[in-house]
Amino acid sequence: MITSRISEDLKQGRRSLAVVGLGYVGLPAALAFAEHFSVIGYDCSQTKIEALCQGADPNGELSSDHFQQSNIVFSSDPDCLQKASFYVVAVPTPIDRYNKPDLTPLLAATQTVARFLKPGDYVVYESTVYPGCTREDCVPVLESVSGLKAGVDFWVGYSPERINPGDKNHTLSNTIKIVSGWDETSLSEIASVYETIIHAGVYRATTLEVAEAAKIIENTQRDVNIALMNELSIIFGRMGINTYEVLEAAGTKWNFLPFYPGLVGGHCIGVDPYYLDHKASQLKYHTQIISSGRFVNDSMGGYIGKKAVKQLIAMGKSPVGAKALVLGFTFKEDVSDIRNTKVADIVRELQDYGLKVDLVDPMADAQQVQREYGFILQPQPQSDYDIIVLAVAHEAYRNLSTATMQAWGRPDTLLVDVKGLFRHQRAELGWAYWSL
Ligand SMILES: NC(=O)c1ccc[n+]([C@@H]2O[C@H](COP(=O)([O-])OP(=O)(O)OC[C@H]3O[C@@H](n4cnc5c(N)ncnc54)[C@H](O)[C@@H]3O)[C@@H](O)[C@H]2O)c1
Repeated sequence: MITSRISEDLKQGRRSLAVVGLGYVGLPAALAFAEHFSVIGYDCSQTKIEALCQGADPNGELSSDHFQQSNIVFSSDPDCLQKASFYVVAVPTPIDRYNKPDLTPLLAATQTVARFLKPGDYVVYESTVYPGCTREDCVPVLESVSGLKAGVDFWVGYSPERINPGDKNHTLSNTIKIVSGWDETSLSEIASVYETIIHAGVYRATTLEVAEAAKIIENTQRDVNIALMNELSIIFGRMGINTYEVLEAAGTKWNFLPFYPGLVGGHCIGVDPYYLDHKASQLKYHTQIISSGRFVNDSMGGYIGKKAVKQLIAMGKSPVGAKALVLGFTFKEDVSDIRNTKVADIVRELQDYGLKVDLVDPMADAQQVQREYGFILQPQPQSDYDIIVLAVAHEAYRNLSTATMQAWGRPDTLLVDVKGLFRHQRAELGWAYWSL
């Protein structure tokens, strides 16, 4: 067995750390490590590497200051990984069209790392996976491609990421990070490496599987709780009760949890529960609560679109040829990420009923929206809209004045206020109003 003080070697600059996958998770980690160690930032996307070499984050999360005086080399050439001894893997873990885990990027990255693995190396996964994935799916690939043995020649860890894009308060360094290792010694080394960048400290999970499970339930818990709020809003909608007003009232009790109805898109909350559901199915357990939560949340875009059309008809208007404005397209507020956005379901529902939809989002990239969804993003709203759907609570929309809204509408416009932003200004607006 090879004993190795990797944390000390990294600190002394004798060995290097590589981050594989430089997206929302990998890039901040790579730059944080590069303040202390010699770092290689590898991504298979050449376009991304070109931007990073210019000091620009394609996701718009980090400013150019973050790249200054960093001890980091960016490359899209896998051979750059030869020099590394501690690998951090942060590649996507999406679902396929049947909502099953798609491990293609994770296993491809694992193969790449395995080609360069040497005795004494460490591989730590940060991608969100189901419990057991690191040991059962990734380690066999590392072993078969490298010809080395885990726990004897090299060590494996799992350390889930908890960053929340768009959130300036909860950062990588001020949020406790869970770390886990193959055994006691590797756990202690991995913890020491992460303690260098996490000021809030690390939590040592007992096994890889505990750390994997801890991450997946963070998002599953949110998904199920939001689904409950969405279901409540469907019930209250039938009674003409405003759900946000109900939640405001209920929230005055000390133990009432602050969850709200809304669209659940993106690549975390709307995806991770499917990973857990997949693992449960393998174990012959059919999830009830987790899959019901997914069903409710996945249906909300279509539900909102239908409610808007019904209300328009109730106002004596035909949806065919009516003009709709949808404000916001990203999967949540204050980010540019459009992956798996459920606003797309609202747009399609309105179009299916014959409405002409103008889509506006100052945060989203128009080319990407067209490439991935086939929708044309308008630079600015026009006027005379029959329906305005306030779909995403971007800061710019949270601060909208009623006068600006009124300039986009007509005296008889219907406001579909998904997040209830205008619920206190309904009277001032003087429009028909609907929110979750
Ligand atoms: N974004 C979040 O808020 C967040 C939070 C916690 C956990 N996670 C998890 O972290 C993981 C990464 O998510 P992300 O949002 O950073 O993804 P991302 O899409 O922003 O970035 C992933 C990067 O990996 C690169 N990549 C893909 N395959 C590769 C390969 N084989 N070799 C090298 N590079 C490769 C892509 O080009 C991309 O730049 C996922 O498992 C996700 O569930 C994400």
